[in-house]
Amino acid sequence: MSMTRMPATLDRRLALEMAQITERAAVAAARLRGRGDEQAADLAAMERAFRELSRMPISGTVVIGEGDEGEVEHFYVGETMGAGGEQVDVAVDALEGSTLCAKNMEGSISVLALAEPGSLLKVPPAYMEKLAIGPGYPEGIVSLTQSPQDNIAALAEAKGVAPTEITALILDRPRHAPLVEAVRKAGAAIKLISDGDVAGVIHTTNPAESGIDIYLGLGGAAEGVLAAAALRCIGGQMQGRLVLDTERKREQAKRLGIRDASKIYRLEDMVRGDCLVAATGVTDGALLTGVRFSREVIFTDTVVMRAATGTVRRIAAEHRDFAKFA
Ligand code: FBP
Repeated sequence: MSMTRMPATLDRRLALEMAQITERAAVAAARLRGRGDEQAADLAAMERAFRELSRMPISGTVVIGEGDEGEVEHFYVGETMGAGGEQVDVAVDALEGSTLCAKNMEGSISVLALAEPGSLLKVPPAYMEKLAIGPGYPEGIVSLTQSPQDNIAALAEAKGVAPTEITALILDRPRHAPLVEAVRKAGAAIKLISDGDVAGVIHTTNPAESGIDIYLGLGGAAEGVLAAAALRCIGGQMQGRLVLDTERKREQAKRLGIRDASKIYRLEDMVRGDCLVAATGVTDGALLTGVRFSREVIFTDTVVMRAATGTVRRIAAEHRDFAKFA
C-alpha cells in the first residue's frame, strides 16, 4: 500500500549536501567512540554539523535542535542557519545515541532533516509516547488509544501471523516495566535497546531485515519528530503523544502553540509537508554501518530519504581528502 505523497517543494539536490553534513558529524563522533565521554562525542558531532550547516545554501530555521536560546550555544530552537537559499525548517541530532557512541555500542547515528517551513511539529523538551509500524498495513490498525495487547493482536492479524510471531522494540527503562509485561502477555517477543529510538522506529519499516514489527514506548519528543520525518519518506504509521507531566512542560508546550496537551499526533501531524532526511552510522548498527578508518580512506554509510517521492538512497562513501574532516 503506497502512502499519500506530498508535492515536492524541496530541491532534491539538497540531499547530497545533507549527506555530507551527517557524514562529517558522524566521523567527528566516531573519533571519540568508546572513550566513555558522551558529552565530548556529542559536542564534536554538534560543532561539526553546525559548521557544515552554516555553509549550506539554505535559509534554515532550527525547529528541532539542542534546546532553547540562551541554554545552548548551537542549534537552539529558532536559530537561523545557512549561507542563504531555500527556506527550510531544520531538525538535527548530530549524535543520536551519545551513550552508545561513548560505549562503542550498536546503533548511534548522526541525523538531519530539512522540511518545508512550518511543517514540523514543535515540541518542548519532554518525552513522547510513541507507536510505530512499517508500511503495508491498513491505516489505523494500531493506535495509542488501544492497549498494547490490542495493538499486538491487530498487527498480528493484519500480518497474517500469530501474536507470538510479532516482535516489539522497546527502550530498556524501568518506566517501561508495565508495557513490557503487557506486550509479553499479548504473546509477542520483545527486543530491548539501551538507547537510540530514532533508528529504533525506522527498524519497523523493514521487519524482514530488522526483525522488528512494532515500536512502543516513551522516548524523547525531538527524536519522535525526527523519526516521523524518516517514516514520512519510507512509509509506515506512527503516532505520538507528548508527556507533559509538569507545569513547566505544559507552559513550554503552550508557548509552542500546543493547545491540547493529550493530543495524539499522527505522522501527518508531526511532518506536514515535504522533507528530506539524512542519517550516517557512527557505530555499527542494523540500520547503518559505523564509520571505518584506514590509513588512506574513511568509510561512511549514509541513507538519504525524500518524502515527495519516497526515494531512499544509500551512500557508501570512501573519503580520501582527510583535510575535509579536520
Ligand atoms: P541522546 O543521544 O540525546 O543521549 O538520546 C538517546 C535516547 O536513547 C533517544 O534515542 C531516546 O529518545 C531518549 O534518549 C530516551 O530518553 P531517556 O534516556 O531519558 O529514557
